Amino acid sequence: MRVPAKINLQLAVGPVRGDGYHPLVTVFHAVSLFDEVTVRPATEMALAVTGEDAAAVPADRLNLAWRAARALAQAANVRDGAVGIEIRKRIPAAAGLAGGSADAAATLVACNEIWQVGLSQRDLAEIAADIGSDVPFSLVGGTAVGRGRGDELTPALASGEYHWALAFGRTGLSTANVYATCDRLRAARAKAMGQPLAAEPELSTELMTALRSGDPARVGPLLTNDLQPAALSLRPGLRRTLAAGREHGALGSIVSGSGPTCAFLARDAAHASDLAVALTSSGVCRTAARASGPVPGAMVVRNGRPS
Ligand code: C5P
Repeated sequence: MRVPAKINLQLAVGPVRGDGYHPLVTVFHAVSLFDEVTVRPATEMALAVTGEDAAAVPADRLNLAWRAARALAQAANVRDGAVGIEIRKRIPAAAGLAGGSADAAATLVACNEIWQVGLSQRDLAEIAADIGSDVPFSLVGGTAVGRGRGDELTPALASGEYHWALAFGRTGLSTANVYATCDRLRAARAKAMGQPLAAEPELSTELMTALRSGDPARVGPLLTNDLQPAALSLRPGLRRTLAAGREHGALGSIVSGSGPTCAFLARDAAHASDLAVALTSSGVCRTAARASGPVPGAMVVRNGRPS
């Protein structure tokens, strides 16, 4: 299986709900930074993780891919449903790129094939949403609007190909901590300014129109992320990272999801390469890579080719 990372072109976060989650309106965009996930029938569950940040990724039942296999076995009544999962990571962990969700989505699709249980996309999406808010998007990829916890998806009408530079941080950020920090910052501001905590999130119609035009120069200035102030307060150094991208002509510079990865929209593929080199050599991130989007979600690969 090959499964992509995501970035958020818009991430509007509403006031925290009773269940601890936040209502979202987000525009997901899958980019060409892929994990490879190999799933084989086995007599007992096993998991191996190699590659980028492997040491930071749990290689047991805490891993979302393991949970995905178990959840599918249960939902489809697969007795003795065990698999061996190998994850070759290129998507950094705890980076705001939905790497763990990607591995879970790939495992769901793989187990559906291996056990020949014939679950529909809709069935898989339901199981996916129980595993994590971003897992349903990792199944479909492309560009899509997410509502609810981010798990209620509708496709977005986007044209063209977008070229990105992604700047990776030295250590990850906990998504739950970034949301909690967002709540704290909002509460402090509300107290100081006498304003309501947060408005209900709304889709940016300007961004949707710009995405239909396919023109990155129009899309760039409209990228927004309500979690960015929280990520910046936890990692003040990210301000320098964002500034470096702007100095090198990025059309838009934004923290991806809960961070700490920063995403920079480039004019074209060559500019994305230049940006990645400039960001890496300026020392404002651990390393940077170029990627393009949109790309499809979790995909079966046989003999090196998508099938
Ligand atoms: O759904 P997932 O397990 O990926 O979410 C991780 C954490 O991010 C949650 O425990 C919650 O703290 C936060 N979150 C949130 N609102 C969302 C999605 C995630 O508060 N819509």
